[in-house]
Amino acid sequence: MIGLSTTIAGVKFPGCFMNAAGALCVTRDELLALGRSKAGAIVTKSMTMEPRHGNPEPRYYGFPGGSINSMGLPNLGYRAYADLIPELKRCGKPVIASVAGLCEDDFPTIAEAINAAQPDLIEVNLSCPNIPGKPQIGYDAEASERLLKRVRRVITVPMGVKLPPYFDPAHHDAMGKVIGRCDVDFLNLINSVGNGLVVDPEREAVVIKPKGGFGGLGGTLIKPVALANVRAFYKIFQGRIPIIGTGGIVDGVDAFEHFLCGASAVQIGTVLVEEGLEVFGRLETELAALLEKKGYRAIEDCRGKLKEL
Ligand code: FUM
Repeated sequence: MIGLSTTIAGVKFPGCFMNAAGALCVTRDELLALGRSKAGAIVTKSMTMEPRHGNPEPRYYGFPGGSINSMGLPNLGYRAYADLIPELKRCGKPVIASVAGLCEDDFPTIAEAINAAQPDLIEVNLSCPNIPGKPQIGYDAEASERLLKRVRRVITVPMGVKLPPYFDPAHHDAMGKVIGRCDVDFLNLINSVGNGLVVDPEREAVVIKPKGGFGGLGGTLIKPVALANVRAFYKIFQGRIPIIGTGGIVDGVDAFEHFLCGASAVQIGTVLVEEGLEVFGRLETELAALLEKKGYRAIEDCRGKLKEL
């Protein structure tokens, strides 16, 4: 048997694949279906103070290389998720509550209430690119530090941060310093590559309605960006802060690459939306077969072992 379980910040996960916040995880039914699936955890949609319908449709578009979305944080509001957490925990796998907000002050309010519901972990999402007029907090190191210090005071379960992609080592280093000062228990890298634009040349039009067609890119085309961020932060912290790798995982080989770069678990977005919950079984089978072929007995045996030339 190949070991596909993993541990993040002391919490044991029965499997290393789970949904990314946003993928099939808004409603109670969707969350319970994740509970019944082979996902190694249940991750909630990033939640705001009040329930939101999100941006106008069409707001998600899948294409052969990936996807673009501008969902606009459709969610039930934090009170509904706080009420749901005990029921979700009875599914027998860790629950990760993803906390967002429309302004800095929202985050500690939501974090405190959600922490009281005792999910297994809380992910603080500093990287939603799709709220018109609101830049991603994760691109502002000062605001990120201020906010993380505020939420850290009210969160007692393991606290992680979901970051946007960074494209320069100077920015990895700057955010690494912020993370190092804020007592962060895990990282989730990366959110979608924000504000891309996909054009339909037939219709001579954009493919999603919000923000003039600009939206977050996901799927295969962002894998190198995701791997680079996993690797950069793994090296900055020398493996001391566990990383959930997110971005571009379509098959078992993609997941293996994330583990080589230093991930301890991986999240699935675009391919979960495209393929449905069955994807978790397929990915587990593919990863186990690959690890076996390569002579690894468990994911921790290959984690971070990427060779440099
Ligand atoms: O638009 C959205 O709901 C996306 C959120 C996110 O990427 O964090």
